Amino acid sequence: MMQENIKLTDLVIELVDARIPASSRNPDIGELARNKARIVLLNKADLADPVCNREWMAFFEEQGAYALEVNSKSGAGIRAIDGLVREACKEKLERDRKRGIVNRPVRAMVAGIPNVGKSTFINSFAGKACAKTGNKPGVTKGKQWIRLNRNLELLDTPGILWPKFEDQEVGMRLAFIGSMNDEIVIMEELACDLLRQLRMLYPDAVCERYGIEWQDSETAVLEAIARSRGCFLKGERLDLKKAADILTDDFRSGRLGRMTLERPQGQENIQ
Ligand code: G4P
Repeated sequence: MMQENIKLTDLVIELVDARIPASSRNPDIGELARNKARIVLLNKADLADPVCNREWMAFFEEQGAYALEVNSKSGAGIRAIDGLVREACKEKLERDRKRGIVNRPVRAMVAGIPNVGKSTFINSFAGKACAKTGNKPGVTKGKQWIRLNRNLELLDTPGILWPKFEDQEVGMRLAFIGSMNDEIVIMEELACDLLRQLRMLYPDAVCERYGIEWQDSETAVLEAIARSRGCFLKGERLDLKKAADILTDDFRSGRLGRMTLERPQGQENIQ
């Protein structure tokens, strides 16, 4: 279905999660969006490390895509997209102009894996004032285009793509950010995996938040968090599940600080 939809568009706006820009991408998008202008949005940039956001922007730009940090929830960065759309589609606009076609808006589609923030983004970008253009003759039946302004129309249903589940590391990172159902994850194990990453990348943040020291093992760190947060079961036994929930929740909400778990160095090309 996305392949059909993409045919109708000039531009693909791909959302990734700024905390894990590699794992939250779909590897097939390069092929799907071939020959289309592309914008990569680092969404949830408010939760990610600002230094890494800049590195990732440079990474995507080096490969010919246009990139921008956004916070779809607050709307930060959204206003800059219009200019970027014009820039990304300048060749098409020029072609149209030469053929005497004026005022034909650019048509864009938003795509990304579940939970990356597509609906929030569309609501924020399209705002309340925009009107749906309705079904147009010549356009596949049932498609709704949102007219954003004179120059841009957005397909109102985003393209949903799947991440690379078969890669265990990818699966784990998606679980860290809450893009997997926690009910199918063993939270204590997930918390230990997260602690292993944080020990490498942001060791001080964990110690400061919970007033603890790093221990020999991740389980011992989780126990220290449980003690520091008063997570006890009957008979003074430590409630490690509760400690794991506290840690993952603090990470996901940004209370541990702005963190990015992947760096652009050594990542696959996006095309
Ligand atoms: P989807 O359509 O791609 O599946 O994602 P959706 O918009 O439903 O967003 C998934 C979650 O991510 C929502 O949180 C949403 O508020 C949050 N979100 C989206 N963009 C951003 C952003 O730029 N920054 C931050 N911090 N959060 C963002 P939720 O907990 O499911 O809902 P809610 O409690 O926020 O309403």
